[in-house]
Amino acid sequence: MSIDRPYIRPRRLRTTPAMRRLVAQTTLEPRNLVLPMFVADGIDAPRPIESMPGVVQHTRESLRKAAHEAVQAGVGGLMLFGVPSPGDKDALGSGADDADGILNLGLSDLRSDLGDSTVLMADTCLDEFTDHGHCGVLAADGRVDNDATLERYVSMSLAQARAGAHLLGPSGMMDGQVAAIRTALDAEGFTDTGILAYTAKYSSAFYGPFREAVGSSLQGDRKTYQQDPHNRDEAIRELELDLAEGADIVMVKPAMSYLDIVRDVANVVDVPVSAYQISGEYAMITAAAERGWIDRDAAVLESLVGIRRAGASIILTYWATEVAGWLS
Ligand code: PBG
Repeated sequence: MSIDRPYIRPRRLRTTPAMRRLVAQTTLEPRNLVLPMFVADGIDAPRPIESMPGVVQHTRESLRKAAHEAVQAGVGGLMLFGVPSPGDKDALGSGADDADGILNLGLSDLRSDLGDSTVLMADTCLDEFTDHGHCGVLAADGRVDNDATLERYVSMSLAQARAGAHLLGPSGMMDGQVAAIRTALDAEGFTDTGILAYTAKYSSAFYGPFREAVGSSLQGDRKTYQQDPHNRDEAIRELELDLAEGADIVMVKPAMSYLDIVRDVANVVDVPVSAYQISGEYAMITAAAERGWIDRDAAVLESLVGIRRAGASIILTYWATEVAGWLS
């Protein structure tokens, strides 16, 4: 018995590299990539982060050098996180809005070095600065106090705007954080300082290595403020709120286990969509590749193309500089 020979053959468009290049739908360019960076107080040489091989906590000096390299490679922007000395952490996260706090110093350094040649972003969250490790301040009963935290975010935002951040990234998932920050920025004349809102940020096991990266001393978990991974529609509710409150760019985080959310968001917004390929995603690919179980570079590219294809035009990734180098 003979089979019917197909006359429609999708494989035709896969025959040669040139053909595949011609028909490739999703593009990935250096400008799509944003490099998250850590700057630490009280260290005199860059300190490797064990669970993120290849990523370090920077000194102020090494931060400047690495930022320069990233910009040379063509990345779209830099997202800065601060790591204060353990002794400088307190219940309110006072280092966060101190002009001499490590994050604000790092921002000033980068803004004076780089000016407007890149987009400088700041993590607007207290967890790196609090001794209990939560993203906000605690009420007497130990719960994270939403509205008291907003006041801290406002103060932190103004410090970061003064230090030269172009975009603020409130990542604490407090209700009303975008509105509070927008109102405060405008009142102080920072009308051009934008907000990259962590719109749908899920409570994820994949943040594990980041906690080492920032020396977090978190007690408990973040389940009362970050989203439950079971929920999809809630992301759209958070999205509507962030847009109404004035978000300039929205973000979904993590990326890999939440690509459906990236697509849901991309389908309905008219602002740029970003996604954060987080520490655990970096660690998984790195670890499997170290064991020779996957081809590292191919897996890295595929993961980023997947996030682009899901609908994010901006991707925060610890591979930003390296991949930008491959692409240009
Ligand atoms: C909170 C914050 C976290 C990350 C970015 N901002 C940690 C958390 O929510 O626990 C995680 C980033 C990563 O895992 O790469 N300020």
